[in-house]
Amino acid sequence: MQLNTLNIGLDGGSMLQSANRCPYQSMSYLLTTPEQKVVVIDGGDTHDPERDYLLDLIKQRGGTVDLWLITHAHRDHFGALSKILQDYPGEIEIKDLRFTFPDLEWIYGIGRQEGDLAKDFLQAVKAQNINCKELNFKDSIDVGSVNFEILNDPHDYKDYHNLNATTAVILAHYPSRDILFLGDLDKESEPHMLKICDKSKLRCDVVQMAHHGQNGVSREFYELVKPKLCLYTAPDWLYDCDNGGGKGSGPWATLETRRWCRELGSVADCPTAYGDYLFY
Ligand SMILES: [Fe+2]
Repeated sequence: MQLNTLNIGLDGGSMLQSANRCPYQSMSYLLTTPEQKVVVIDGGDTHDPERDYLLDLIKQRGGTVDLWLITHAHRDHFGALSKILQDYPGEIEIKDLRFTFPDLEWIYGIGRQEGDLAKDFLQAVKAQNINCKELNFKDSIDVGSVNFEILNDPHDYKDYHNLNATTAVILAHYPSRDILFLGDLDKESEPHMLKICDKSKLRCDVVQMAHHGQNGVSREFYELVKPKLCLYTAPDWLYDCDNGGGKGSGPWATLETRRWCRELGSVADCPTAYGDYLFY
C-alpha cells in the first residue's frame, strides 16, 4: 500500500488515515498526540484484513489506546473494533471508549444485519469490561495536549430514518491545528446540527469529508467549513465515481462534492484511493 506523508503541523503528533484493506469504503483514523498518546476514530470494517491491520498498528504503538471514538453504528466504522474485541479479547488495552448508538430496537428497525452487528459489538464491549461512556453534545475530552469536542447531539436520532444521520461530529484540536471529522453526517441530520452548534466552529482547514465524500452534507454546509485540505475515505471507484465504465460512470455524487470544494477554495484532496496518509 502506498504511504503518503504530509506535514500539516501536528506539533509532534501524527494522524494516520488508513485506506480500506478490502474493496469497500471504510473509515479509520489513528492519531497520536504530541505526548505519543494513542486515539482511534472509528477503525474500519469487520473484514479480517481490516481487523488485523488495525490490531497490528495499535500493537506497534504499544498496545494501548487512550481514547477510542466511534462516530456511528455502521459496520464500516465500528466493525474492525468489534472483531478485535470478539476474536482477540484482551490483546489490546482500551482506556476510554466512547460512542452513542441508538437503542438496539431502533437499529433493528433499520435492518436485521445492522441490529445483529451492533448487538454483537455491545456484548463484546460488556464482556471485556471496557471503560465505556456515551458521547454527548458539547463533550470536551482531553488526551495529552489534544482536545476532542463533540459538535452535535448524537442522541438526537428518534426522528431520523438512517444510521448515517446518527453520526457524532468530532472536532480535534491539536495545539496548532484543528481537524474536523464529519463521519457519515447527512442531509437528514444536518439541519438539526446547524440549529444547535456554534457555526463558527465549523470553519476548518482540514476536514474528513462527510459520508466518504458523497451524498453527505450539502454544499451550504461546506460553505461554512471552507475546507482547504479534503480527506476522502473513498476507494478509487468511489473517489472517481467509476462503476467500471470510467470516471463519472457511477451513481455516486463524489465528483460533485469535489467540484464544490474546489470552488470553495480547497487546495488538495487526500483520498484513500491513493493509499494511506500519514499526517504530522
Ligand atoms: Fe460509512
